[in-house]
Order: sequence, then structure tokens, then C-alpha cells
Amino acid sequence: MARSVLFVCLGNICRSPAGEEILRHFARDRGLDIRVESCGIGDWHAGQLPDSRMRAAASDRGFTLSSRAKQFQPRYFDEFDLILAMDREVLKDLYKFAKTVEHKAKVHLATAFSTSYKDQDVPDPYYGGRADFELVLDMMEDVCEELIVKKMGS
Ligand code: 4NP
Repeated sequence: MARSVLFVCLGNICRSPAGEEILRHFARDRGLDIRVESCGIGDWHAGQLPDSRMRAAASDRGFTLSSRAKQFQPRYFDEFDLILAMDREVLKDLYKFAKTVEHKAKVHLATAFSTSYKDQDVPDPYYGGRADFELVLDMMEDVCEELIVKKMGS
């Protein structure tokens, strides 16, 4: 059973902060005590709130995104049970950073746990429009529902 989850994207201002808050929200609704965080492969946005377009779209669905961007650190392999990449580029980087089979075993594509979006990349919405941010939320709601059922025993 997973008790801690780390979502990872490129900049940590769009996709992974959405995953972080949606999973935290769903877990809270079910009374589950889990640790959820997110980070980015890059450090360009370190310290920043999520992108205002992502926050607006999430807020319209009742999710308040308030995390601060941070870069992935190797120690996270020891600190989290599941490390979930938003797309295959990020997945490749995480596998490269993972030095042991135990660490590699924690790394998955986030949509590996989805039925509707199984094994699809969550598209980067940064250069897109509202529909692209909505798709991130659709995908992350689905991933997080299924994560709770399949990996968190609720
Ligand atoms: P994210 O989106 O990986 O979903 O946070 C991006 C945000 C910023 C950049 C790339 C992707 N960037 O290159 O600054």
C-alpha cells in the first residue's frame, strides 16, 4: 500500500502541482492520511506558485493549488513510495537518476494507474490554451481516483 506519492513534471508549475492537490483532496475526502508532493525536473520556476492559468482552471473545479515549485532531488527516491512522471521524457530522466532496482521500481508513468488514459503522456499545457489545462485536470482526476482505489486501499 502506498502512503506517499510524488508527482513529477518538467517545470512543477502546471501538471504535477495539479496532481498533487487533486490526490490530496481526494485522500482527504476519504479520510486517508497520505503524504503528497510534487516537483520538476528543471529548476527554472523554483519558489513560484503554480501557473495562474492552471490555478484558475483548478479553482473552477474546487481545487486550490498553493504549492511552491521545487526541483527533483535524488533523496526523494528514499522518501516516497510512488514517484509518478507526467510524460515519457520525465520518466526517462527519473529512470536515469534512479541508481538501484528499488528506486527504479517506485517510478511509473502517472497514467499507468488510469483506465481512461492508460499509459498516455499528460500533455504539457504551458504553451497551450484553456482546453489544454482542462485536459490536464481531466487526466489527473482520473489518475488520482484510480490511484486511491488501486494503491491506497480505499
Ligand atoms: P509543467 O509545464 O512541466 O507541467 O510544469 C511546464 C512549465 C514550464 C516550462 C515547461 C513546462 N518551462 O519550460 O518553463
